[in-house]
Amino acid sequence: MSKGYGGGDAVPLSYNKYLRVPELIALQECLSDPAHHDELLFITIHQTYELWFKQILHELDAALIAMDEDRAAAASRAVERAVEIEKVLVQQIHILETMTPISFLGFRDELNPASGFQSMQFREIEFASGLKDEGLIDNFRDDEFASKRLRARYDAPTLGDSFFAFLRRRSLDAPADDPSLPKDDRQKLYGRRTRAALEVLTHFEERAAEFRLAEALISHDEHFQLWRAHHVRMVERMVGSKRGTGGSEGVGYLRTTLDQKFFPELWEARTYLDTKHGAAGCPFSGVTGER
Ligand code: HEM
Repeated sequence: MSKGYGGGDAVPLSYNKYLRVPELIALQECLSDPAHHDELLFITIHQTYELWFKQILHELDAALIAMDEDRAAAASRAVERAVEIEKVLVQQIHILETMTPISFLGFRDELNPASGFQSMQFREIEFASGLKDEGLIDNFRDDEFASKRLRARYDAPTLGDSFFAFLRRRSLDAPADDPSLPKDDRQKLYGRRTRAALEVLTHFEERAAEFRLAEALISHDEHFQLWRAHHVRMVERMVGSKRGTGGSEGVGYLRTTLDQKFFPELWEARTYLDTKHGAAGCPFSGVTGER
């Protein structure tokens, strides 16, 4: 009982103590006064997202370590768990649609200028998955805690970096990106990574471990994109084309994010996949690596 459960040895551990339920249910502080009925839902949804984001980061970190240690099954399981959570996150968006648009406007002004755009953990997931935008760190300049975490993620290898390093150790030609090279040379490296992904897709039985991991990663990418698609639809249904509380154009801005991909090589490899590859020994010459 020395972990701060607050009971001392005489009081047995209970559900409420272990999970800190009293503290947890005291964390939803409505800003509207008198409290608007729907503001509790709005806060609960966002806090729930942040808890799941924390768990996703925990799984992605485990996957990164496992890949670096050549433990493909452990890495796949971690990413697969993240994907199951992401399925819940997509569904959760729609709970918000039980709020009427006029109800939301009843407390929306109180949120200004806070916005999901400032979700530190969402950006951490993006960075760890390969979508790094250094400019975003600047949005957290007044928040030392967030800036430090984002800088660390920005400087750390991504899931894609670790996945392609893992493929290299499994004798595939999947070179790391090198930002110091001219664009054309980087494009060639990208093409070679795409070919490595194609090799895994073609020989999915011989390369079952690589294939399972690649599929888990593309599912993670797909479910993040699905979340974006459901979020922008819900936002339009709720506020139309109003500007966002975070100051962006709103729906117009969100639409520009819909096609962002964590692992473009895994998607592009599908374009070049051909049933003849297995029999003909993978003629890679058709792959240009153009993005
Ligand atoms: C009524 C509910 C919601 C509305 C009207 C809404 C609206 C918006 C708008 C307009 C933006 C663009 C940035 C801005 O100017 O504010 C945005 C971004 C964002 N929102 Fe929401 N949102 C809602 C719920 C949620 C929920 C539940 C989450 C879960 C964490 C969330 C997470 C995000 C994230 C991560 C971004 C940044 C996306 C990116 O830059 O790619 N939002 N939201």
